[in-house]
Amino acid sequence: MASRSDRSRTKTPPVGDRISSVLQESRSFTPATSFSARAHVSSAKALAALRRQADADPVAFWQERARELVWFRDWKRALVWKHPHAQWFVGGTTNASMNCLDRHLGGWRRTKAALIWEGEPGDVRTLTYQQLHAEVCKAANALLHLGVKAGDVVAIYMGMVPEAVIAMLACARIGATHNVIFGGFSSEAVRERINDSKAVVLITQDGAYRRGQTVELKTAADEAVRRCPTIRHQLVLRRTQQPVKMKRGRDHWWHELVDGASSINEPAQLPSEHPLFILYTSGSTGKPKGILHTTGGYLTQVAYTCKMVFDLRDDDVYFCTADVGWITGHSYIVYGPLLNGATVMIYEGTPNHPQPDRFWDIIERHAVSIFYTAPTAIRSFMKWGEAWPAKHDLSSLRLLGTVGEPINPEAWMWYHEVIGRGRCPIVDTWWQTETGAIMISPLPGASTTRPGTATVPLPGIQADVVRKDGTSCAANEGGLLVVKHPWPSMLRTIYGNDERYRAAYWSEFPKRRGHPGWYFTGDGARRDEHGNIWIIGRVDDVVNVSGHRLGTAEIESALVSHARVAEAAVVARPDEVKGNALVAFVTLKASATPTPALAEELRAHVAREIGPIAKPDEIRFTEMLPKTRSGKIMRRLLREIVTSGVATGDVTTLEDAGVLERLRAGEEE
Ligand code: WT7
Repeated sequence: MASRSDRSRTKTPPVGDRISSVLQESRSFTPATSFSARAHVSSAKALAALRRQADADPVAFWQERARELVWFRDWKRALVWKHPHAQWFVGGTTNASMNCLDRHLGGWRRTKAALIWEGEPGDVRTLTYQQLHAEVCKAANALLHLGVKAGDVVAIYMGMVPEAVIAMLACARIGATHNVIFGGFSSEAVRERINDSKAVVLITQDGAYRRGQTVELKTAADEAVRRCPTIRHQLVLRRTQQPVKMKRGRDHWWHELVDGASSINEPAQLPSEHPLFILYTSGSTGKPKGILHTTGGYLTQVAYTCKMVFDLRDDDVYFCTADVGWITGHSYIVYGPLLNGATVMIYEGTPNHPQPDRFWDIIERHAVSIFYTAPTAIRSFMKWGEAWPAKHDLSSLRLLGTVGEPINPEAWMWYHEVIGRGRCPIVDTWWQTETGAIMISPLPGASTTRPGTATVPLPGIQADVVRKDGTSCAANEGGLLVVKHPWPSMLRTIYGNDERYRAAYWSEFPKRRGHPGWYFTGDGARRDEHGNIWIIGRVDDVVNVSGHRLGTAEIESALVSHARVAEAAVVARPDEVKGNALVAFVTLKASATPTPALAEELRAHVAREIGPIAKPDEIRFTEMLPKTRSGKIMRRLLREIVTSGVATGDVTTLEDAGVLERLRAGEEE
């Protein structure tokens, strides 16, 4: 098995122009007839027919899906495409909150559980669709009371509590654009995201429970907004009861303002292209990108994919372990499941509190039937051992999903056997913050799956693996993953920076005479002889750590902001659990001496500047970084050094060849 595990580590960023993938996986799994018989798409044939229909006319295909939402007014044009800007369902008006809530109140789902929430300390709350609707209306009225208007941005900096979902839907209800900031980010990161989005209100909580401790969110929020001139109010949920400072006139308790508000609120009738949310993600330069998603197209694709990929049914209990601070939380904890009237299980804390079987315990006690998590989490479960899931009755499970990074076949097999007990199909879903919704994935009742591949693009999605010159790659030839036709839930721009939007996604395969211009995902991939797409990894300076995208430039600029650091270069090396670990090469200012204490201090500094997720696993002090004659740091060489110990590639552009020797020597210390 060891050799297999070595072979499956294909996540090392590709070298130069050559994209290589060595993974070969021959095991395949077809859905059980008992599963297929009840599935929305129940055979390979039915899926092929759907795909043919979508390929023939993708816009008509999506138009049909959009009709499953409730619209106040019908659209006039399904797609207006002015490269690289798409508008979907133009002329139509709708509301995300109304589609997630009000539409379910007319029938039996009124009393169905919308959210089953479990706090880390063990407290449980269930909100039916009617109850969730009432809470959202109250929160919407509270926001209106604070002067929030349609088009304003509201920042949400919370843990995994029902009020985070309520806050998002309340924004959507009145047409405010939410900007959810992951609760693990530091005050610096919060400030940057608030200022870039010009948010007028910040919704937060006193503290959050995490790993048996409390995280001080309000304190961090206060620290952040000290230099956020646009913030007029904070709305503060009481969760941990820890003492916090409330600033008169600016800060308001949720239980005072929201609980006292009316539960009657008419959803705003918003244009299809009304901005629903901004969500920041890392890019290859230092500044995070505010990915902008709008309403009608986003809801259409999220609703459709959630229903089809997870084969959602009314009797499911659906549990996605992501945080609402990431796109997975937006699309597949909040909007996708609620649009479908599903019951969503939400858990506040960490999977190993109080013991490493917390998820299995939750699945057993709440009869979870669909479980969606990340490969990094699965690798942690593997490390903790089979005894933990073995203690629990997991027979309620019928479907498993993964997202965030390529899943190594060992982890896939373990997930299949130990969690799914060999009965549950696995959907490996490829998508991005930018794509808004799932793009490449099996359909569980119809697709043949193979451990390690997200299989093929969903009907309505035209993705391909191409060479730099735009021609399609041959079978098993590595290339770049592109999307050739606009899709409903695609990002509309980078908030406040359309130039960067064009440069980041549309410059690799630009529109020119005879070429329509394609969206470049940033991922390298190959298609196998069956047409399945295998993601190799990012081809830019973005690394995926524990399923989260981090820009190396962002971490480098955090390091360089430390008084003793002269220069830094951050690269990834493969890691058993996290997928990638971060190694920072740091050169110090002349006055500073490299010590283990300083390395620790630098790690803590990054945690403060960005958040603990960005903390380098290893700091390597060096007197010099390998650079080209024009002064560009050759990260490729550093990557080779951290992965294989030697830099074997082309070093002729290196300014000072001796630096490699010294870097290697440094490693042996
Ligand atoms: C990047 C997007 C989409 C929600 C989570 C991450 C990688 C994502 C898969 C998968 C292989 C995957 C890609 C992608 N990725 N899912 N199933 N197989 N790689 O969202 O932070 O926007 O990151 O995650 O590299 O580009 P994100």
